Amino acid sequence: MNITSDIKYLGVNDHEIDLFEGMYEVPKGMAYNSYAILDEKIAIIDTVDVEFKEQWLSMVRQVLGERKPDYLIVQHMEPDHSANILSLVTCYPEIILVATAKAFQMMKNYFGTEFTDKRRIVTDGDTLALGNHNLTFIAAPMVHWPEVMVTYDAQDKVLFTADAFGKFGANDVKDEWVHEARRYYFGIVGKYGLFVQKLFQKINDFEIQKICPLHGPILSENIGYYLDLYNKWSSYEPEEEDGIIIAYTSVYGNTKKAALLLAQKLKEKGCEKIIVHDLARCDMTEAVADAFRFNKLVLATTTYNAELFPFMREFISSLTERNFCNRKIGFIENGGWAPIAAKLMRERLEKCNDVSFAENTVRILSAMNKENVAQMDALVEELV
Ligand code: FEO
Repeated sequence: MNITSDIKYLGVNDHEIDLFEGMYEVPKGMAYNSYAILDEKIAIIDTVDVEFKEQWLSMVRQVLGERKPDYLIVQHMEPDHSANILSLVTCYPEIILVATAKAFQMMKNYFGTEFTDKRRIVTDGDTLALGNHNLTFIAAPMVHWPEVMVTYDAQDKVLFTADAFGKFGANDVKDEWVHEARRYYFGIVGKYGLFVQKLFQKINDFEIQKICPLHGPILSENIGYYLDLYNKWSSYEPEEEDGIIIAYTSVYGNTKKAALLLAQKLKEKGCEKIIVHDLARCDMTEAVADAFRFNKLVLATTTYNAELFPFMREFISSLTERNFCNRKIGFIENGGWAPIAAKLMRERLEKCNDVSFAENTVRILSAMNKENVAQMDALVEELV
């Protein structure tokens, strides 16, 4: 597939994978992208997952024909992109590897060698001339690992963005980009918003006509839409105002009833954007992405072993370790004799920056009563 007349797509679709990075459900598979720039010199950008070694090498041979690659640009060392470095070097022993110093240290960990006889260490702003295509490397540490860099081709105005602007899902499955890109971003890169913002400052002046990530489709239209979304996500701004996520756990159904009643009352008050997640049964990575999508969050759970119910504990940890901030939070707690869930949830979330808490908490003693309904009505008034 041609991305431009000189830039070719060398990616693969993985429909066998069950969990990406060992934890993210990917029902629509996963794409591992790789690229070749054919000029007076030939550069390959990144490799693909180890399972696709033969398929990928065959594509490389097909695209290059009799020619040999001069450079392998390694933007990111996570194995979904780096697994075939050694295989390519074995096929083309004269190839030069281009990467950051940290990437070469990681190569030693993975392959037992830093390729000292065939390495070119680059730092922020370094360039590589292929002929007509002059590449600039931009250090992007912690987007998503410390060795990451992205690559700008000034000739075709293409930005190769490593994991940034990637998404879950294979490229031969049609879906809505934003949904799986949001889940991917907040699942995998979300903790490092500050570093994504730093990258944005560096690429601000670049004219970008195409974005080539290491996962998901090549983005070639409406680039401003994608840049705006990433800017919002990485600055932890809600993607949409006036939306409310209700995330609950329920042991015997009473907390669930409360969560659903809250959703109904909010709708009756005209709140249109409400998403309810049962944390024990939903894909929690969806719930995490949604929590960052809207500006308000209500958590409903029970006290369990004098602690929070386990799925709620996990959910809150997933938020706080990703720098959850800048949101309004309300609580529904349930407990048969000594409910402390609201206190425990608040203690965990108080460490987050710029969060505010609803003054009204719904405090259920086993099952909703009239007093709880009044508490909920007060909470609804605060939220809308
Ligand atoms: Fe797609 Fe951080 O690897």
